[in-house]
Amino acid sequence: MKNFMRWLQRSPENKSVHEKHAHTIEGRAEHMLSPVLMNLVEELQQLAVGRAEELLSQLCVGLRSGSKDVDRYRAAENLTAALYPKFKFSEYGRLFLEDRAFLAYYRRFMDAGNWHSLDRKYTLNQLLKLALPLAGDMAECGAYKGMSAYLMCQALQSTGRLVHLFDSFEGLPAPSKWDGDYWTSGALRIPESTLRETLKEFDNYRVYAGWIPERFAEAQERHFCFIHIDVDLYQPTLDSLEFFYPRMCTGGIILMDDYGFTTCPGAKRAADGFFTDKTEPIIMLTTGQALVIKQ
Ligand SMILES: C[S@@+](CC[C@H](N)C(=O)[O-])C[C@H]1O[C@@H](n2cnc3c(N)ncnc32)[C@H](O)[C@@H]1O
Repeated sequence: MKNFMRWLQRSPENKSVHEKHAHTIEGRAEHMLSPVLMNLVEELQQLAVGRAEELLSQLCVGLRSGSKDVDRYRAAENLTAALYPKFKFSEYGRLFLEDRAFLAYYRRFMDAGNWHSLDRKYTLNQLLKLALPLAGDMAECGAYKGMSAYLMCQALQSTGRLVHLFDSFEGLPAPSKWDGDYWTSGALRIPESTLRETLKEFDNYRVYAGWIPERFAEAQERHFCFIHIDVDLYQPTLDSLEFFYPRMCTGGIILMDDYGFTTCPGAKRAADGFFTDKTEPIIMLTTGQALVIKQ
């Protein structure tokens, strides 16, 4: 702690911090810092042995009013590297993070503060461009509140083609022995009205409420250019692949939301098993999704 106080005082980078807290640093010293703050510094010293001062210095640079966006990014990157080294920041300045229209769509439908699927929704929306010129409808297995369905309905608007949406509206079924212990029966349960509210500006979709695969037969005469499989578990993922794969047009895309997540081992197992005797490779994306392009 004393080191930190000395460092705060001597480092020119901390001039503003020092001035702001001069009464604390020079006058009443450590006891003016809350125990929480003192613990934080001590824990950081243990977490990043020999680097705590450097990291705090970067944090100060990042927090300084008027600091550059890139400096904040570097501070976040370095602090994250100490706190959760498994996570690797990507290159600074990716344009999709500046896409205001897309951010507005995401904020409109997602719970505040939850950015966990921004990259996946963005990827889905980009892939829809590949599917749009092809013939056929789109479908989603596991529609939930309709965030992905919104993008699919938007893509097919005014084309005369439909989006077919399958969900139990009772949440997940009981996980199988392949599914690990992250998910539980009944998780992600929402009423069908939530989905319909999200999609209220569209009329180019059909909802099939029920357990997959019970209502697939109602879409058996259709062909598809894009399928989104997002059911988290082994059995419904396998059922979805078995039904939709033969109905995909050439060049059609199967996007699997859960394939690359440690929390969804059953979804990966189902896909790996299903595609073993097929010619198409499964392309795993860094977002956690995987896609297959029907040959
Ligand atoms: C992760 S959510 C889907 C999120 C949605 N695709 C989105 O982009 O916002 C998973 C959904 O799959 C549904 N689901 C999972 N297994 C199912 C099954 N066997 N039959 C029907 N629905 C199922 C759940 O009810 C839940 O709504």
